[in-house]
Amino acid sequence: MSNLEIPAGLKELLQGYTVEVLRRKPPNLAQFAVEHFTCVLENQRKEQRGEKPSTSPDQKGVTFESISNKPNKDDEEEEEKDSIKPVPSRYSRRVAVCAEAYNPDDDKDDVEPQVVHPKTEEQRQRLQDACKDILLFKTLEKEQFSEILDAMFEVFVKPQEHIIDQGDDGDNFYVIEKGMYDIFVQKDGVSMCVGRYNNKGSFGELALMYNTPRAATIIATQEGALWGLDRATFHRLIVKNNAKKRRMYETFIECVPLLKSLELTERMKIVDVLGVRVFKDGERIITQGERADCFYIVESGEVKIMIKTKTKTGQQNNTEVEVARCSRSQYFGELALVTNKPRAASVYAVGETKCLVMDIQAFERLLGPCMDIMKRNISQYEDQLVALFGSSDDLKH
Ligand code: CMP
Ligand code: CMP
Repeated sequence: MSNLEIPAGLKELLQGYTVEVLRRKPPNLAQFAVEHFTCVLENQRKEQRGEKPSTSPDQKGVTFESISNKPNKDDEEEEEKDSIKPVPSRYSRRVAVCAEAYNPDDDKDDVEPQVVHPKTEEQRQRLQDACKDILLFKTLEKEQFSEILDAMFEVFVKPQEHIIDQGDDGDNFYVIEKGMYDIFVQKDGVSMCVGRYNNKGSFGELALMYNTPRAATIIATQEGALWGLDRATFHRLIVKNNAKKRRMYETFIECVPLLKSLELTERMKIVDVLGVRVFKDGERIITQGERADCFYIVESGEVKIMIKTKTKTGQQNNTEVEVARCSRSQYFGELALVTNKPRAASVYAVGETKCLVMDIQAFERLLGPCMDIMKRNISQYEDQLVALFGSSDDLKH
């Protein structure tokens, strides 16, 4: 053993990793090792290129503080753009919300360094798949979206793990890669399960957007994987983009008849969580019989609602019949969300059509006051079907 040469730096390298494992108790040591050493390597490369790596207690260039702890002024001056951050931890949660007012145009976020968590090709691919339908990302410019992907970090979760606790300060926003997550909301001391994320979607945006305590508890019901986005990056890119979105949609949203009864602030909260999707002529937006997870408002263009008819023996026919059309400022896709049933019809774009899209959690949280109007309109669908087919069997709820 005595003639074995221990390479310089090995001890420090392994010590750095061990210290981080002990501090952050990652569920998967091998995965954590990949991420940790990728950061170390990136910082070494930066150093070789003559760029200044960020400082850290245990490694050159790596700061292991939770990214949700804002840097103090001196640190800010020290920090450079594009600093590579190690994977932050949910175990080191944000301690206190600074009393930042909700002011998306405040330029102070611009001086925040850009956060980068290096990823392997395989990780980036999985991240892109998880993010492709995230509504909050749908109105971002390409570069902004790419910055968000750079800043996101992987989080593995265990069954029964609390990802977010109601009342806590907000640290990260999460995109679901896989797993089921129950949503509990506590009211008057009673905790109620109000919904579940099933292998897709995102959560944790409210506390970051409005600087409020977490509005719900999110618990993993099985092993899962999430992608986190730190508060500072969320602010810099999403909250700023929301200010732009509000300006763009303020006038349009005022003329949506369904939302007329809402207060301006309620309408703006709807705009904050809306995504925009553009469909080509003839593209299917909703498929009859599928499970529903979002609601649509037509911004431009038109959609046609098609229903598969039934044969005399009650079998479903593959022929579709047009039952209605929706154009600018009309909505569709609410029925399955209200009745908790599969989609009652298929919906197709007529010409290029742009829709504002809201996920089921936001629909339930924000459109409660519009429920009566929607229910009244649903009874008209039955009349339409009775007039067309002599029955409304598909719509019994
Ligand atoms: P946030 O308040 O930051 O943290 C808890 C998250 O739960 C919240 O953001 C939403 O993203 C999500 N959520 C889902 N359904 C609800 C609901 N009914 N009320 C509040 N938050 C909800
Ligand atoms: P949903 O069932 O979620 O998805 C299909 C949507 O088509 C449905 O919600 C309604 O919004 C819309 N729709 C419009 N007219 C009808 C109709 N006559 N029957 C069923 N759905 C209709």
